[in-house]
Amino acid sequence: MKKGFPEGFLWGGATAANQIEGGLTDSKGLSVSDCYSFDSKLPMSEWSKQWKEMTHDQVKEALNEDSELYFPKRKGIDFYHYFKEDIKLFAEMGFKTYRMSIAWSRIFPNGDELEPNEKGLEFYDCVFDELIKYKIEPIVTISHYEMPLNLVVEYGGWTNRKLIDFFVNYSKCLFVRYKEKVKYWMTFNEINSVTKHPFTSVGVIEEGNPNLMQDIYQSAHHQFVAGALATQLCHEIIPDSKMGCMISYQMPIPYSCNPDDVQLSVEEQRKTLFFSDVQMRGYYPAYTARMFRQLGVNLIVKDGDSAILKNNPADYLGFSYYMSTASSSEPEKFDTVQGNLLNNGVKNPFLSVTEWGWQVDPKSFRVSLNQLYDLYQKPILVAENGLGAIDTVGNDNKINDSYRIEYLKNHISEMKEAIKDGVDILGYTSWGCIDCISASTSQISKRYGFIYVDMDDEGNGTLERMKKDSFYWYKKVIETNGEILN
Ligand code: BG6
Repeated sequence: MKKGFPEGFLWGGATAANQIEGGLTDSKGLSVSDCYSFDSKLPMSEWSKQWKEMTHDQVKEALNEDSELYFPKRKGIDFYHYFKEDIKLFAEMGFKTYRMSIAWSRIFPNGDELEPNEKGLEFYDCVFDELIKYKIEPIVTISHYEMPLNLVVEYGGWTNRKLIDFFVNYSKCLFVRYKEKVKYWMTFNEINSVTKHPFTSVGVIEEGNPNLMQDIYQSAHHQFVAGALATQLCHEIIPDSKMGCMISYQMPIPYSCNPDDVQLSVEEQRKTLFFSDVQMRGYYPAYTARMFRQLGVNLIVKDGDSAILKNNPADYLGFSYYMSTASSSEPEKFDTVQGNLLNNGVKNPFLSVTEWGWQVDPKSFRVSLNQLYDLYQKPILVAENGLGAIDTVGNDNKINDSYRIEYLKNHISEMKEAIKDGVDILGYTSWGCIDCISASTSQISKRYGFIYVDMDDEGNGTLERMKKDSFYWYKKVIETNGEILN
């Protein structure tokens, strides 16, 4: 029996290009994430509404060069210019790995060009060199919520099969260019998010879409095929590489022992696991036929697609874990929680919630790790986990984020238990290791980092980086390979 974290465990942090880079320069094109504006005068429900339902007018406004709206993800935390300073801080914490993503629209500004943008490629060369200098292993997500906006406007996003070719061309370009620098890759961030916020995942505009479900699952099918082809190329071009797929897992717990709740939680779970089942096993599971019938989905699958999926499953499973959810067959009887993205999800009375209504449940993290490993028997990467909270800089310039330490400590403890249970975990990359723009609300005040960035939700601030208490705590965790968590 394993006693704790294995030698070589990949401790680190994670971010995404669209939430940190800024740098809308050197021919970078606009991406879907650049369409989210932010206005602090609007209520919070409006901010996350944008996330769940993009409108045609918003896309038009994003394309308007004279728009006076503030689009936080175009500025990020200016990692484009601060990356050396930021990576130095990661190294100081002892990071063994850094999960990052490449902005597709920095490499192919419109997505459909044949030749890449050299300036964009050079930028990531510099980032990887900096990581290698500190012996930090990059784990690179090829697409994390930032497909080029042009692919939405001109092609209708991933509903269009042509996107497979564009993505494969983009991926190939990355493998060829960075084959000496990057061994760990991931195809799509949280691929199952397509059912929750299709615009960021596959470029499908939700507003007034009569075929939303069809578009969602057809797009997902195209992503599966594209991801499998990229996996094949990755293995050919970089023989010792590992390609992962990734899902967001919000473990659905039956609200009660009422068999209806249990059945419902199984159905909710399948809506997520469908995405990893296809990519880890290489085929559509039996339950899909009924699921698609119920959703009115009639998938168009071309000859050869099944073989592509079958021959190129992912090498490891990455997943993000922030919360569990509770499934009730009578949801109207209970309170719901803001962060809950499941249809019949209700508040679990045993759990506390964050300021953004995300249920905190470290114990279900251990269960999730066990479930996912039992299912696929392949290594797991905890690609994201963390606490979004408001942080305050004290008079002494210190940032006491004991609540974050508590959250992370409890989750890491449960992860350690899962390792003792026998789960093969490659590494743990805490989300937003440096404060970044929130994916769902576009705020920076929803902070996750060990490193504070001096900026407010309107983009004002010096951008100065400051170490929070959790910075020193995490450094110790890494130094002791997870032995000391206090
Ligand atoms: C994950 C995403 O779902 O959650 C990240 O992969 C995101 O991009 C993270 O930032 C936290 O969510 P949020 O909305 O608090 O930024």
